[in-house]
Amino acid sequence: MALRYDTPSLTRWNARAYDSSFGYVSAQGEPLIELLDPCPGERILDLGCGTGVLTAEIAARGAVVTGLDGSPTMVEAARVQHPGLTFVIGDAAGFSVTEPYDAVFSNAALHWMARDPDAVIRCVRAALAPGGRFVAELGGAGNCAALTSAMLTAWREYGLPEPELPWYFPTPAEYALRLEKGGFTVRLLEYFDRPTPLDDCPGGAADWVRMFAGSLLDGVPPAVVEPLLRRVNELAAPALRRESGWVADYVRLRFAAVRA
Ligand code: BEZ
Repeated sequence: MALRYDTPSLTRWNARAYDSSFGYVSAQGEPLIELLDPCPGERILDLGCGTGVLTAEIAARGAVVTGLDGSPTMVEAARVQHPGLTFVIGDAAGFSVTEPYDAVFSNAALHWMARDPDAVIRCVRAALAPGGRFVAELGGAGNCAALTSAMLTAWREYGLPEPELPWYFPTPAEYALRLEKGGFTVRLLEYFDRPTPLDDCPGGAADWVRMFAGSLLDGVPPAVVEPLLRRVNELAAPALRRESGWVADYVRLRFAAVRA
């Protein structure tokens, strides 16, 4: 195995629910693969690969791809769904490789690596061959602002301690600086709104919270969870509920950088 890793910080994930209700996370990764432009035979690392949907897309273009994720549940699901591919459990802020990669790819994952973004960038740089590409998309500043505002208000109204949100949504300037200080030349950086229909979330914002912020519910008394989530829905609805259904207020930061 070409990858060595420290003990990953465990994020509890329900991989099946993630795939069935939140498949858009992967579906929206296609333009990022275009930007990556993987070539046959290239060695590519998919950082925060989840259940491996995009890892498989990259492999289908002939690249030799490895998926890395901090969640054992996700990696297990990825191995079952894509038995011909290589997936490893690893900490994005603490891995190293024995054979360098031509590119590191990451979709909708870097914002989960909030503890030490510079360590992630350091690991990515060290994993790349000179001139190697780092192509990624994450939530940018203002991402999910209406969703998180509804959460914070509901928590406060129920007298609960303010939840510590587990994500990192940088501004373009901040992340570009990190990349440059981390030894990358930024070739492209885009920052844009991407309102995202929550097509498979009949429970609206509450379903989103259960899936993506489930750990924040751990500290909530069980009897309070349902009314709290109903309140999140009431508070979020004016901004996010349309006639056609719920739409999450996603903001994306997409970049392509090269190891300097
Ligand atoms: C996102 O893809 O922007 C995202 C997903 C889950 C939680 C937070 C952000």
